[in-house]
Amino acid sequence: MGDKMRLDKYLAESGQGTRSEVKQLVKKGHVSVNGVTARDSGMKVDSDKDAVKVNGRSVIYEKFRYFMLNKPQGCVSATRDGLSSTVLDLLEGEITRDLFPVGRLDKDTEGFLLITNDGQLGHELLSPRKHVDKKYVAHVSKPLTPEQLIAFAEGVDIGDEKPTMPAKIRPLDEENVYEVVLQEGRYHQVKRMFEAFGSKVTYLKRVSMGPVTLDESLEPGQYRKLTAEEVEALRRK
Ligand code: URA
Repeated sequence: MGDKMRLDKYLAESGQGTRSEVKQLVKKGHVSVNGVTARDSGMKVDSDKDAVKVNGRSVIYEKFRYFMLNKPQGCVSATRDGLSSTVLDLLEGEITRDLFPVGRLDKDTEGFLLITNDGQLGHELLSPRKHVDKKYVAHVSKPLTPEQLIAFAEGVDIGDEKPTMPAKIRPLDEENVYEVVLQEGRYHQVKRMFEAFGSKVTYLKRVSMGPVTLDESLEPGQYRKLTAEEVEALRRK
């Protein structure tokens, strides 16, 4: 059975507007439930059984929404920023009021960013205790020696209270390019880990979070909805 809830809540959670906006829609007779014009925005609807339409168009109930964005450089991972463009500015055409990015990528970092209104899932994906892998590709100024690669993976003192948790690192085919997998997300973590070995990150891209990988067809600045399978995979993490 679906959730039973007030019509105005159903409409607002489906992205039809704020609570007061959707109340106005009902008042003006723009909303129908099972073919009958709704008059009371407090009437109960069942998200599985009832057919709700606004101006004759079916409403699809989505309590939670999930997007993957290929974050471009120069854009900040905040919901609002007076000066710079934020990742939410890139979700043109979506109702972004309740959406937030899961974790932060630096302004100059590119790649996979999950944007959702599912607070609990977002929290779990970021918690180091949940051990969700975040995979990055880093271009660096100086290669690490085999000993340094081992030290990097074991945990690095980056000036915080505790050294970093165990990580994975492997050189890729291109010179001075590494794949790094972390299960935590401290401030500037990848950059500070390389810096601990005297190497500077010149380009950083996140390629995946847990079981979900950045869609290669997404150019920087483009986004798409997660598929149902991807959402399920994240929930199972
Ligand atoms: N590590 C960094 O240094 N920067 C990021 O944006 C993400 C991880």
